[in-house]
Amino acid sequence: MAFESRVVSADPSQYKTPLLAVVVPRGDLPASLAALDRATSGALGRAYKSGDFTGKRDDTFLAYADAPFTRVLLIGVGKSEESSTAALRRAASTAAKRGRALGAGTAALYVSPEALGQVGAREAAQAVAEGLAQGAWHFTELKRPAEEPKAPLERVDLLALADTAAWEAGHRSGAAIGAGQTLARGLQMLPSNQLTPTALAGAAQDLAKRHGIPVTVLDKAAIVKEKMGALLAVAQGSVEEPRFIMLDYQGAPGAPVVLVGKGVTFDTGGISIKPALNMEEMKYDMSGAAAVLGTFEMLGRLKPKVHVVGLIPSTENMPSGTAIKPGDVVTSHLGKTIEIINTDAEGRLILADALSYARRLNPSCVIDIATLTGAIVVALGHTATGLFGTDEPLISEVRAASERADERAWPLPLWDDYRELNKSDIADVKNSGGRPGGSISAGWFLREFVDGFPWAHLDIAGTAYTEREDASRVKGPTGVGVRLFSEFVLARQG
Ligand code: BES
Ligand code: MN
Ligand code: ZN
Repeated sequence: MAFESRVVSADPSQYKTPLLAVVVPRGDLPASLAALDRATSGALGRAYKSGDFTGKRDDTFLAYADAPFTRVLLIGVGKSEESSTAALRRAASTAAKRGRALGAGTAALYVSPEALGQVGAREAAQAVAEGLAQGAWHFTELKRPAEEPKAPLERVDLLALADTAAWEAGHRSGAAIGAGQTLARGLQMLPSNQLTPTALAGAAQDLAKRHGIPVTVLDKAAIVKEKMGALLAVAQGSVEEPRFIMLDYQGAPGAPVVLVGKGVTFDTGGISIKPALNMEEMKYDMSGAAAVLGTFEMLGRLKPKVHVVGLIPSTENMPSGTAIKPGDVVTSHLGKTIEIINTDAEGRLILADALSYARRLNPSCVIDIATLTGAIVVALGHTATGLFGTDEPLISEVRAASERADERAWPLPLWDDYRELNKSDIADVKNSGGRPGGSISAGWFLREFVDGFPWAHLDIAGTAYTEREDASRVKGPTGVGVRLFSEFVLARQG
């Protein structure tokens, strides 16, 4: 069942709902909530007065009311003057997550004017709509139905007393971005026996059909014809055929923004096989592809005036009698030869062919996104995505989008000094530059296949999924990249 939210122009103290979530700032009970406090016989005021609830970020207080609403949930965002879209997004996620846990079925959310602080209604509405989708997300598709199931959270009504048009407009964007993120997380979550490269292409075709977006899928024979030797080299160890997926959203004429997503549906490492511990997480090695598809879900819903092409090279990375072996040399789509030092450095191989292919589209810019290196987790932990590129204005633009999206991305250098890490004795380049600076040599490898367009690269190996579960966060796939890409392409509208 799909989750939805909508803007309703209504007074929260009069609203009939099983759960009324109210976003409040730190300090005292906001004056604007006096009527709401009376409806709970003063429980809200007493919560503040007792000090049990202070309104600091992530603070919550649940009360039961003899009112049109059955329950009221206060959610703190911290100091009013420090309120931000990030804090509001998080509060909304907390509301939806709690609504799910309570089995409320439906809920309402009211952001008090005091909690808004300096944030405008439009921005707030977008962030809140994104947060609601984020907190409502769950994946139970592969479990048997519970005998006494809790009602799933089907809808949250966003209550607006003023600026309704701005709330509506912001909500429309946020709900579309939230739906994109939900789509990405669902694809990420699927196990590799269900989400093969062929199935991923099928999902892209379904999405494209729903929104009337032109899509082309190259099967193995077509990939051979295109001479994508690096993608084919990774795919040759698997009985599953590779696919090369292309989506073309033409909301405006002109040179496209090209988004490239790594679509390795399972990464065993190949002959350079990975250790067994946590290897199941390598079903998430298609998270870059999921981010690109989630962005197209947003595009299909919002129909902005911008031209965006998505490219997804997809394959499994398997060890077998037909698999590539360390020392093998293959010829890429660009024509450069590659010595394969480590078959586990497969992401850069398939991205190389996609970046080379992108030239043909005369892009205004190309941004790739990939769970590329374990080394980025060492560098930035699970907090930030690694950002690389050759074009300073593009890097700044991506960083600004990441700030607005609250999907942190931090730049790392691609100085010429690092290029030699990928020097091969036998071929033009080798696919592993060793452990020191591992994310940078991976970035430099990609750069070898970039020709004639501004390019940026996002390494999401540390941010694509999380073990952390808290009041606002749901454990598992994050859909990272969808919000960042959405902010980026929406700001490029003509
Ligand atoms: N898919 C992995 C990177 C990864 C690691 C993603 C951890 C998510 C969590 C990638 O294909 C890989 O195996 N990279 C190697 C490269 C090395 C062999 C040069 C790595 O990072 O160890
Ligand atoms: Mn690998
Ligand atoms: Zn990989």
